[in-house]
Amino acid sequence: MAAPNRGRRDRVTASQRGFQKRLSPVTFYAASPMFERPRGTNDWGPEDMAKRRFVESRFVQLAESFGFREVSTPTFESLELFTAKSGPAIVRELYAFKDQGGRDLALRPEFTASILRFYVSDLRSRPKPLKLYSTGNVFRYEEPQKGRYREFSQVNAEIIGGAALPSDAEVIALAIGTMRAIGLKQVKARIGNIGILRGFLPFASADQAVVLHSLDKRNFPMLDAELDRLGRPDLSKALRQLVELSGDVSVLDQAAKILGSEASAGFEYLRKIADLLDAYGVSRRDYAFDMGVVRGLDYYTGMVFEIDSPNLGAEKQVGGGGAYNLAEVFGGERIAQTGFALGLDRLVMAAEAERATEPPRPLDAYVVPIGEGVQKKAIEVLTSLRAAGLGADIDLVGRGPSKNLDYANAIGARYAVLLGEKELKASKATVRDMASGVQREVPLADLVEAILSRPAARGPEPAKPKRRAAGTRAVRSRRR
Ligand code: HAM
Repeated sequence: MAAPNRGRRDRVTASQRGFQKRLSPVTFYAASPMFERPRGTNDWGPEDMAKRRFVESRFVQLAESFGFREVSTPTFESLELFTAKSGPAIVRELYAFKDQGGRDLALRPEFTASILRFYVSDLRSRPKPLKLYSTGNVFRYEEPQKGRYREFSQVNAEIIGGAALPSDAEVIALAIGTMRAIGLKQVKARIGNIGILRGFLPFASADQAVVLHSLDKRNFPMLDAELDRLGRPDLSKALRQLVELSGDVSVLDQAAKILGSEASAGFEYLRKIADLLDAYGVSRRDYAFDMGVVRGLDYYTGMVFEIDSPNLGAEKQVGGGGAYNLAEVFGGERIAQTGFALGLDRLVMAAEAERATEPPRPLDAYVVPIGEGVQKKAIEVLTSLRAAGLGADIDLVGRGPSKNLDYANAIGARYAVLLGEKELKASKATVRDMASGVQREVPLADLVEAILSRPAARGPEPAKPKRRAAGTRAVRSRRR
């Protein structure tokens, strides 16, 4: 995976690069000598993209199987969409700009606000619940570090208009299920209820937000200063105790004791979520109840959750979500909304750390025309392979057969299809298994089938070529 953009100061040296190569299959892209990537952005090479697509496709497959449907919204929105709930202070965390018409715009920092805007303007009349998912890049003006970028990608799901409890359980099941579908073993979700905390804080929403922010950051001096300012220093002890509570369902009883009977419905709600998650087959080992899950975004109203991948270090939070209210803020009706986003970049890092990514699909066939005059026929053969759904490529450089086989080896092609005039006259091709080096003649009519079949095993009597095809030389066997 490419590292975030490094300035001149912290470019890696050749010896560091060698060391990093031994440690992990990280690809380091040197900054262009003329232009550097903007800070906090990444280039993704073919190997990175194969991993990213693999991870994304696992989410898409699972979300579709859960009945979610894809929607797409603009990459930039009016700035107001993001300040409407969070206030003007959010602007310093955004890529906000004026366009040439003087409009205040911002690159989306997430999908949720855009999807709820879309819902309120165009999707309200659709049958409920609406189950919508999106994938793509989002932008936040943050201090970049490993796993924290200014442009990153999320996979996102929202349920609008379901009953709160089953919808909340459904989104948690999809979030944890996605991580399992990727093959991640280390999944640790923390489930809380910000509705309980809001109910316990008898303040106007702006003051509530400051108190919740200090709890989110575990900044207790700030918490005490705020509670003093608001004339309720007495709440400090209970809040501190509460946010430190994390564990199995038994912590719900402990939390209920701290907050008293008024909060009991909120804890009962979490118990019911645990029961539903049992029915989804989500292991209780995969999550804890954690009263300290406060979330950084202001719109959450009820159940909230975060998911960590413990071996990612400082930026171990791979996802988060919960129940919220934005439809009303955007001029719509009061309706249940819940959802989550997983950070794709961090999911891929977690998959790499657990070696859960799949190797990219190799090219099935690399067509090697040998000699003048066979090019057109070679393209016809290539086109028939592609039409059969195979991944097929052809020499575009005009190399000799030996160099072409080196190239086929370097790009990891499964087979080379050698087409010389003699073969073509007999309507045949020489098919070379690039892993074993075994070659055989195959009638053109059977070529697709021959390539679709598993690579020839190195049996006791391999069909050794009597001589190498013209101009070829031994090709090192390739690690698959
Ligand atoms: P969020 O917690 O702000 O939630 O972001 C979700 C995930 O995006 C994080 O857990 C993290 O993996 C990833 N992420 C966040 N910031 C960065 C960054 N700077 N670099 C790399 N990855 C990052 C939301 O965005 C909500 N919209 C989720 C939601 C949907 N809630 C309800 N519906």
